[in-house]
Amino acid sequence: MTSQPNAQIPDGCAFVIFGVTGDLTHRLVIPALYNLAEANLLPEKFCVVGITRKEMSSEDLRASLMHGLRKFATRPVNEEIADKLLYCVTAVSADPSERASFDRLRERLEKLEANRNTGGNRLFYLATPPDAFAPISTELGRAGLLKEEGGAWRRLVVEKPFGTDLASAKALNDHLLSIVSEHSLYRIDHYLGKETVQNILVLRFSNGMFEPIWNREHIDHVQITVDEKLGVAHRGSFYDKTGALRDMVPNHLFQLLSLVAMEPPSHFNAHSVRSAKAEVLAAIQQQSEEEALQNSVRGQYTAGTVGDTEIGDYRSVEDVDPASTTETYAALKLTIDNWRWAGVPFYLRTGKALGAKRTEVAIKFKQAPFAMFRCTPIEELSQNYLVIGIEPVEGIALQFNTKIPGPTIAIDGVEMTFRYKDYFKVAPSNGYETLLHDCMIGDNILFQRADGVEAGWQAVQPFLDAWDKAGAEGLQSYPAGSNGPEEAEALLKRDGRNWREPS
Ligand code: BG6
Repeated sequence: MTSQPNAQIPDGCAFVIFGVTGDLTHRLVIPALYNLAEANLLPEKFCVVGITRKEMSSEDLRASLMHGLRKFATRPVNEEIADKLLYCVTAVSADPSERASFDRLRERLEKLEANRNTGGNRLFYLATPPDAFAPISTELGRAGLLKEEGGAWRRLVVEKPFGTDLASAKALNDHLLSIVSEHSLYRIDHYLGKETVQNILVLRFSNGMFEPIWNREHIDHVQITVDEKLGVAHRGSFYDKTGALRDMVPNHLFQLLSLVAMEPPSHFNAHSVRSAKAEVLAAIQQQSEEEALQNSVRGQYTAGTVGDTEIGDYRSVEDVDPASTTETYAALKLTIDNWRWAGVPFYLRTGKALGAKRTEVAIKFKQAPFAMFRCTPIEELSQNYLVIGIEPVEGIALQFNTKIPGPTIAIDGVEMTFRYKDYFKVAPSNGYETLLHDCMIGDNILFQRADGVEAGWQAVQPFLDAWDKAGAEGLQSYPAGSNGPEEAEALLKRDGRNWREPS
């Protein structure tokens, strides 16, 4: 990460990680803290407290984190910077089922804070399975660890998944908000750490040319695609209870949708941006279960080959029910009930074990009237898309028609492309740097607010209910390495549309 000229250095603080021995901490959190350290964006007065369930020495924890850092760092590791960061790490054991351990944690933390002179500012990062969010936060609250006093701030950061349906998300919001206030609660969606996702706001609202055409008069429909090549691998137990819809749609795909569809916020601050996003999610038309079935496709992968890799049947994945009806692919048609978007379908699709990795938003503009070319040999015009590429190509492409050079009139579709890597030389990062930095400086613009989370679940709830009732009926299969179930093509074809082919 190249430090931006105006990047703020956070206040001194204690960064307390629950789930410190887990995959997320090793793969993303510590490498991101390392990148922040390299960019001089960590405070001098800083300590990392790793909470382990069982006793562990700080030396062992540091060695394990160092191992993870070497494996997952996004750039060559500078030993001096890594040592300095890991020197700040202390292991402390605490278990929410043992109350006294949180009282001991408080004492240990206060001593460490005094040693490192952090001013009592604390960030509690719950990099744990979701069923631990409530018990840990309860104990943090009870032990007084989250109480803001003496000018010090206290923040609670929770990972996804935030609930498993509307009711559980509401219950979790109620629980957490009974312990901390909304401004101290940071609900992470790692999609908002991606530069290209953040850039959707900048593209839309810093360029005067888009706003006049960003509406139902000019846009035919919007496609949001998050295709993955990887299968479910070792996450069978989590995934079989979750499925593609819960795993990806109310969070990642809806972040993309809300940034594309929101009204211009009045200010570039957390309140305005999050209000505008929540409002558009709440405007997604609520479908009946019957409509949800008509407007969706779900599929499950069977054995196949993705590139050179053989992928087995989903139902043969460890910890997956051999008769599972959990979807590994979901495609939905949604509409947004407001003046800007009435009548403009938003087609969303996401799946595992597909032929290619592709994350993009494609905005399809209405066709030009063909009248002028009627008496020419031209049979059809190609389609006008504005494509926001998130992976693997990070950039923006505009597809338009142009004349093929020559004496007769002939037209072809061409593409004008901006790629980040051609313009900006930034050290590779994993996306968590911005999110962790924002938690430390107290900017929650890139974090979900309770109303946004609930509006997202509200919109997908009819699909969850309808699919749950339908069971195996209507569940399509698709071979690993394909584009997903053929029925997903039909979802657009019946509207006279098609999914955009990658260029
Ligand atoms: C996670 C999901 O939140 O996002 C995974 O749980 C998914 O199943 C991942 O693979 C996708 O993230 P990205 O950044 O690779 O698109």
